[in-house]
Amino acid sequence: MGKRASSPTGWTKCGRAISGDVVRKKQLEIILQKLSPHPSPSAELEQYMTPGGVAAALLQLANSQGDIAGKVVCDLGCGTGRLAVGAALLGAERVIGVDVDPTALEIAEQNAARAGVDIEWIRGDVNEFKRADTDTVIQNPPFGVQRRGADMVFLRKALQLAPVVYSLHKATPKNRAFIAERVKEMGAKITDRLELWFHIPRQFKFHTRRVHRFKVDLYRIEKGGKKW
Ligand SMILES: C[S@@+](CC[C@H](N)C(=O)[O-])C[C@H]1O[C@@H](n2cnc3c(N)ncnc32)[C@H](O)[C@@H]1O
Repeated sequence: MGKRASSPTGWTKCGRAISGDVVRKKQLEIILQKLSPHPSPSAELEQYMTPGGVAAALLQLANSQGDIAGKVVCDLGCGTGRLAVGAALLGAERVIGVDVDPTALEIAEQNAARAGVDIEWIRGDVNEFKRADTDTVIQNPPFGVQRRGADMVFLRKALQLAPVVYSLHKATPKNRAFIAERVKEMGAKITDRLELWFHIPRQFKFHTRRVHRFKVDLYRIEKGGKKW
């Protein structure tokens, strides 16, 4: 099960995402925003935490489409677990978080315990990850700024794992065209795209502003029949 019956915070009593008994978007945002960050994020791994509002928007969209509650959900590049914890709070049947960084997973485990949810944390490269029963992938992948193409590695793997993928990417006209082309090549289709504001507090030497704000696109992508 993605959640326990009760938690020290009382968050889980909100339970499954059925109207009238939901973790509301604002409430979810506040809960996720309070989760602990990475103590020493790596620029190379693009360890930026998804802002609470963006994470809540992704999860609520996914849940409204029937892709979270009661489903097996994988969070690729889960970091400190914001998306994974949110999916569990919304009543996912099972949540699996995958990340290459053991420190991030340690914090993720603590965050899940604070939220009173059970999540399976797996340390490893997403490229090596396999899981046949995945219904939905949720991910905020590296944007490919530090390692070119890292975002596409995640997208390709996500579409190999699950029929439905929610993924965040840089919102530039060039990137939109690029992603549309790659998704088509992978035999999948973009069903929704939502533009959202993302912010990163200054955390690396090359950050010149106190808060860096930029737009991201949230994609909902469905796998087509074609194999690749
Ligand atoms: C932009 S962060 C997102 C973190 C988290 N999902 C969140 O929403 O706060 C990207 C994450 O992907 C992880 N990562 C990068 N490359 C990876 C790889 N090849 N395999 C597994 N995880 C990876 C990083 O360690 C980092 O935690």
